[in-house]
Amino acid sequence: MYFRLRAIAQVSKAFVHNIPLPHPLIFKTSFKVYIMGQNQALLNDWHIVADARELQPLTVLPKRLLSEDIVLWHNGSTIFAWQDFCPHRGARLSLGRIEKGNLACAYHGLQFNTEGKCVLLPATPDQPPPNRGFIKTYHVQEKYGIIWVCMGTPKRDIPHFPQWEDSASRKILSGPYRIQASPFRVLENFIDPAHFPFAHHGTFATSNHPEIIFDELKASSSGICLDFKFWFKDFLVENNEDVVVTLLPCRYEIFHPLVVYFQNGIGTNDYLSIYCAITPIDENESQLWLLFGVMFGEDVTDASFLEFQAAISKQDTRIIESQRPQHFSLDSQKEIHLPSDRLSLAYRKWLFEQGILNSKVQYRT
Ligand code: FES
Ligand SMILES: [Fe+2]
Repeated sequence: MYFRLRAIAQVSKAFVHNIPLPHPLIFKTSFKVYIMGQNQALLNDWHIVADARELQPLTVLPKRLLSEDIVLWHNGSTIFAWQDFCPHRGARLSLGRIEKGNLACAYHGLQFNTEGKCVLLPATPDQPPPNRGFIKTYHVQEKYGIIWVCMGTPKRDIPHFPQWEDSASRKILSGPYRIQASPFRVLENFIDPAHFPFAHHGTFATSNHPEIIFDELKASSSGICLDFKFWFKDFLVENNEDVVVTLLPCRYEIFHPLVVYFQNGIGTNDYLSIYCAITPIDENESQLWLLFGVMFGEDVTDASFLEFQAAISKQDTRIIESQRPQHFSLDSQKEIHLPSDRLSLAYRKWLFEQGILNSKVQYRT
């Protein structure tokens, strides 16, 4: 009833203001609520669900991805990712345990083999399990020390992290950081250098030097690349109130809807690269993972590096979670856009062209 009233109100308003109405089909679907778990492009891509160190042999973990609860489990030799749902009475399989290489539900003990097929009914062990006793299984693999899941049909590989093979670079995994915001907003924050001097004033940038020097942006169907320079404040130098800043050359490369590769110190031996991946847990819930390849600061311990990074992520989270509307929209009329937003605008255009998001669906608020 509410939607019908809204539809009538919208039509009347359109007549009064002479606004062209959308195509009837689009008009109808504009009332569809966007559900992240129905986004086929995201379903067919790989996403991070866990740090591989979390999933020890013979353990079971509850996780969530694309609005779906999933169970990760390790039978001692192989890892599995399934829908976290027992087909008997709907209990969460992640409450269960591993029995003789099978996953056993905690409620009535039904056991499922590594293909997700029910193989034992403990209360009537002589009876054959029902044909419908199957769990929905997902693709899973471990790469870069993290566990990735694809819930649909993988259309491409896990994005490449070039520094992973470079034995000279120190690898540090930072996160995951839980952020109550759209994963697209979290990614957009990461690719937005104009926020460094303000949101991160005093850490690695300063509001006394907010200028960004952009190179030409390169975009194609396979992704986007942007080189730029910003005034970098060396965070390894303590007590520099009258800060020493240098113009630092950097590069962003986007080749997956929720994975970005960043490198600073381009053309030097002292570079730092960041492989940034965002887990789309739900429309407005994300996890941020940052995998660093570091070529400097041997005197800085991993622990102090992580502490510094956690402080930076906190600065970002505070702002991202404050953004309204909470959902991420491609409607260009909803916000104002600045010359310094060129990468985020190219990213939005790319999401649209790749069919990952469109501007017609109505997002849940
Ligand atoms: S609900 Fe899983 S065995 Fe009954
Ligand atoms: Fe930031």
